[in-house]
Order: sequence, then C-alpha cells, then structure tokens
Amino acid sequence: MHKPTVFVIGAGGMVGATVAHTLAVKEIVNDIALIDIAEEVVRGQATDISHTTAYTSGVHVRVGDYNEIADDDIIVITCGQNQTATHKGIGTRLDLLSVNIRIISAVIGKIREQGKNVFIVMVSNPVDVLTYIAQKESGLPKERVLGSGTALDTARLRVALAERLHVSQQGVIAYVLGEHGNSSFAALSHATISGIPLRDFPGFRQEWTTTITQDIRDSAYQIIAAKKATYYGIGQTVAQIVDALTKKRGVVMPVSAIVGGEYGLSDIAIGLPSLVSSSGVRIVDGYPLSENERSQLIASAKIVSMAVKEAESLIPDPGTL
Ligand SMILES: NC(=O)c1ccc[n+]([C@@H]2O[C@H](COP(=O)([O-])OP(=O)(O)OC[C@H]3O[C@@H](n4cnc5c(N)ncnc54)[C@H](O)[C@@H]3O)[C@@H](O)[C@H]2O)c1
Repeated sequence: MHKPTVFVIGAGGMVGATVAHTLAVKEIVNDIALIDIAEEVVRGQATDISHTTAYTSGVHVRVGDYNEIADDDIIVITCGQNQTATHKGIGTRLDLLSVNIRIISAVIGKIREQGKNVFIVMVSNPVDVLTYIAQKESGLPKERVLGSGTALDTARLRVALAERLHVSQQGVIAYVLGEHGNSSFAALSHATISGIPLRDFPGFRQEWTTTITQDIRDSAYQIIAAKKATYYGIGQTVAQIVDALTKKRGVVMPVSAIVGGEYGLSDIAIGLPSLVSSSGVRIVDGYPLSENERSQLIASAKIVSMAVKEAESLIPDPGTL
C-alpha cells in the first residue's frame, strides 16, 4: 500500500518534533516533511531527526512546504501556544483559544489553498474546538479531520491502571472520554483488564472511579510545571493515530471527531471511541456508559460547544491573517 507523506506543521516545537521523531524511529511512514514559521529551528529539527534514520530502512525526514501536499497525505498540526507560553501559572487548554484560533485559521487556509483531499490530525489546543474549526474551514469531509482528543488522557489512564494493578498496559481496555481538558472523565463502568471487568479485578479499589480522572489530569499539570511542556506521550499517541490512518483495518481509539447524533450529541468535535483507518475516522456509537458517565459526557460537550461558539466569533477575516 502506498504510504502517504506526513506533514508536521509546528515541527520546530516540542510536540511537533517529538511526533516527527516517533514517526521516524517507528518507521510508520517513509517521508516526513517538517513545517514551522521558525525556519532555522525547523531546519535544525529536521537535520537532527534525520540522523536517527540511519537505523531505519530508509525513512526520509526533511523540511517541507505546503505546495508539496498531495491527495491522501496526512497533515499533523501541532503549531501554536502551549499551556506555559501565555500564562504566569499554568492555564487551561481553553485559555489558549484566542491565540491559537488565529494561528490555526491561517494554517488551515494554506492547506485549503492546495485543494488536496488530505487527512488532518489536530493536536494544538484546545484540540476539540480546533478540530471542529479545522473541519469547517478546510471544507474536507468530516471523516478526514480528527483531533488527538482524549487519546493521550487514555494512554495516561492505561499506564495508571497498569501500575496500580501490576498488569501489562496492553490488557487495560479503558477510555478517558469527553473534552481533552478539565471536563474529561475516565469511563470505568465498563472498563476491563483483558476482558475481566475492572471492578472485579484483584486489587481494584472503588474510590478510583472518583479519583483517577483527577490523578491523571494532575499528572499533565505536574509535567508542565516540571519541564514546561508534555511531548513524549503525545508523540507516541499521534504516531499511533497516523499508523491507523495508513491501514485498512481500523483501530478503535478515543480521538476527537465531528459528532452527528452519536451519543445524543451534534455539531461539535469531542473525544469518543472511534474507528480510525485509511478510510478516515468514524465514531463508534454504543460504547456502554453508566448514567453518571453519560451526564459527564453531556456536561463536557456543553463546555466544548460554548468554546466552539466563542471560536467562531474569533475566526479572523482572511484578509487580516
Ligand atoms: N492534544 C494534546 O493531547 C496535546 C498534548 C501536548 C501539547 N499539545 C498542544 O500542542 C501545541 C504545541 O505545543 P508545544 O509544546 O510543541 O509548543 P512549542 O512552543 O514548543 O511549539 C509550537 C511551535 O509552533 C510554531 N508555530 C507558531 N505559529 C505557527 C504557524 N503559523 N505556522 C507554523 N508553525 C507555527 C512555533 O514556531 C513553534 O515552533 C500546544 O497548543 C499544546 O497545548 C496538545
């Protein structure tokens, strides 16, 4: 199967460079093109990451340009401010909206100008809001635009449960759903350890159903407080999403996709279990949620919906970009 080129926009920064590096060392695609307004930095990142390819079977990492984008290429967007860039303390992801909406609108405009039928993977925050805006502004079908959603939060949940229960991460089937932000929640009611209900698994403690969401949320803030940004976890998470986009058989992951009635929601993008494959993204309706989890999902969707309305009022006129 033909492997697409992956363009990483914002690859001068920590998240973009780590995504590019992970894609290269895992040999997920053969051609990785790095774009950033910080031209010297991105040249340095491309050269540095290209040196890791000595141990691959021929991965090419280079600086790229929008005009090289072709049909079915995958555009990973990581540009814009992170949670330490604008605030004295550590702000929320939604606090980044007013700055990042301008950056993302400009980037989506450049992608749209190429007129190609690409896949967009949004990573910049607030990721759910920007995924929604990217789909509307790009004019691409909704199957072709997705965000990393709660896939990273889910990775953190898997690690937390695996460590507490002394089991392999791979056996943990559990999702964090909703906004990639402070209203996300760990949906544990139907989580399993290799098919065994989590609540019946030896060592499981009932209080985790109320504390683990906050624990994993805090872990992101602790990383940012300690070293200004999180990037290894998201690098691997995005690599998994890109890998799924290159394969015919779908992988279910809680990415952010445009909802059209699934789970009783519409007209936003939010983290829900979705099938990701070379056909794009499709939300899988029917993942079992308890009453409480359903209420948490609705509350989270309301927060995203309000932020989408704010974002729409902030989209700059193309002439001012
Ligand atoms: N979705 C997630 O789970 C997740 C996880 C971690 C970080 N993030 C988000 O990823 C984004 C990047 O974080 P980071 O730590 O890499 O920040 P960073 O400051 O290290 O990098 C941002 C990069 O964007 C570039 N940039 C700015 N405007 C641009 C434009 N118009 N075109 C191209 N490049 C442009 C900058 O030059 C910089 O190199 C943030 O919004 C952060 O919140 C998301």
